[in-house]
Amino acid sequence: MNNQDVINEIRQKIDIVDLIGEYIPLIQKGKNFFGVCPFHNDTNPSMSVSREKQIYKCFSCGASGNAFNFLMDYEHIDFKEAVKILGEKSGVEVSGIRVNAKTTKYDRYYEMYDIANKFYQNNINTKEGNGAKKYLESRHIDDELIKEFGIGLSLSKNDSLINILFSKNYSMKEIEDLGLATNNHDIYMNRIMFPLHDINGRVVGFSGRIFDDSNANKYMNTKETVIFKKGECLYNYHIARDYCRKLKFVIIVEGFMDAIRLSQIGYKNVIALMGTAMTNEQMNLVKKLSNNIYLSLDGDDAGQQAILNIGEQLTKLNLNVRVIGLPSDKKEHDPDEFIIKYGKERFDGLLEAALGYSDFKINCLKRGVNFNSDVEMAKYVDSVVREVSTIKDEIRREIILKKLANDTNLSYNTLEKRLSEYLEFQQVIDKDEVVQKKNVSKKPMDKYTKASYVLIYSMLNDSWVIRKFEKENVHLITKELRYLASEICYYYRKYGNINMADFYTYLTDKEELKIIYNFIMSFEYDDEINVRAIDDYIAVIKEYNMRQEIKRLKELIKRENDPIAKAEIAERIRLLRIGE
Ligand code: CTP
Ligand code: MN
Repeated sequence: MNNQDVINEIRQKIDIVDLIGEYIPLIQKGKNFFGVCPFHNDTNPSMSVSREKQIYKCFSCGASGNAFNFLMDYEHIDFKEAVKILGEKSGVEVSGIRVNAKTTKYDRYYEMYDIANKFYQNNINTKEGNGAKKYLESRHIDDELIKEFGIGLSLSKNDSLINILFSKNYSMKEIEDLGLATNNHDIYMNRIMFPLHDINGRVVGFSGRIFDDSNANKYMNTKETVIFKKGECLYNYHIARDYCRKLKFVIIVEGFMDAIRLSQIGYKNVIALMGTAMTNEQMNLVKKLSNNIYLSLDGDDAGQQAILNIGEQLTKLNLNVRVIGLPSDKKEHDPDEFIIKYGKERFDGLLEAALGYSDFKINCLKRGVNFNSDVEMAKYVDSVVREVSTIKDEIRREIILKKLANDTNLSYNTLEKRLSEYLEFQQVIDKDEVVQKKNVSKKPMDKYTKASYVLIYSMLNDSWVIRKFEKENVHLITKELRYLASEICYYYRKYGNINMADFYTYLTDKEELKIIYNFIMSFEYDDEINVRAIDDYIAVIKEYNMRQEIKRLKELIKRENDPIAKAEIAERIRLLRIGE
């Protein structure tokens, strides 16, 4: 049996209603089961699960998939792990299957980084590595950590790496494209090298730290390449992934040194931003690790400001954010230095005492306020009350408000009145967001789009539609839809049958297709589709193709100078219009 067969067998043995029912309560209504969708913030049962089709979909947020997708998104695990868990559950042997063994056109790049990585790691253990080792020792990085994090050393000679790569038949151009050389010499010289990995654990770049007194940039990162985007990279992500799932939280720090130190004292569920900025891509990656996030950024102003920015955005993604309070004192303001100075127990204490994000923010609002000024005081009170209005827990709201009343000598009633104004406003915003979300996914479709979606859906529901689709050579209206349709036809020809649930699995590593497929699946369709209806939809698509062709020919006429050629094109348009 090949991989796809084993995976399909597992999927067939698992009943999706039973599986999802283990996580969220489901109620049967007609043929389908309904529950509150765990993938967005909701209280309405907008997720429907079909026993017949073995798929789920949420009509509010558009999440959809089969048993594997549900487990992956719910447990924050990758496909391989979902296969393993469901394999055990269903009694299907999975030890022999390889799911991720993909080769890509970038394999050569990965090989080059791999060679460089081994070279750097080897250097640090030679005589030339003595200085770097001494420096690392002074920073409490021992041999074990050096090995664990693959820390290496680039040499002082400016052609040591390029010569190795030349000897393995890589060209100067490739080496420069990868950011390992510039102007015909090694780009990294005499730096302590930290390998950077992608989410699958492959080396995709380096960061080199100076360790002597030179006044060069402290860290030098590999430039952006086709396989390395700094804004999509999180240090230690590939290692932290498993630990976050088990421990059910993730710690975010700024720097390499912080991540390495936290890992050393047992917090392997740590990732580093490599600075104080966090991109949307990085936030989405973090969301895949856990819903519980501890920010442990530096206690200096830059770090605290970053907590406010990042915390605000992560909270908007419905994540549960806590803030670890580090001293603002220069000497121990980052997690690394704090732990070296005070030890693991004190850090454990900070973690336990971490504030919820809104409490942290409220504390920050207080800073620098001149309580002798009426204007400043009023502004302060107002901003706290506004923040309190975003907190969902009523008891916590009351606690904070009481404290504020005490601190400011204002009456609780006055504050509560202001709060209820904000709460009303907040409700309007929440409602607006729901309406907007609905509008985004459910905006009226033109007939060509609708025909395309129904055709795709029907192809997955009934294979005669696929055969008809191929016979009539239907050309759907966008590139993505055509690609999706051709994959459906391919799958059907290869496996002899097709269904929605297995097709989700097939799309696992085809990101762009998955997005459009999920979108198509988030609408409701009629399952009992007949030949006449399909004919009508195909006719609608053909009408679209014809209109496009006429449009193209009209453009051609405009640019054509020869009157005879012009007349010929006009005739073609006429024939198209009368359907010949
Ligand atoms: N950084 C960078 N380029 C710089 C400075 C910093 O890319 N010139 C990134 C690095 O990834 C670094 C992180 O920002 O790890 C945090 O910076 P910092 O706190 O200054 O570095 P540390 O990791 O704490 O390193 P060290 O303690 O050795 O100064
Ligand atoms: Mn540091």
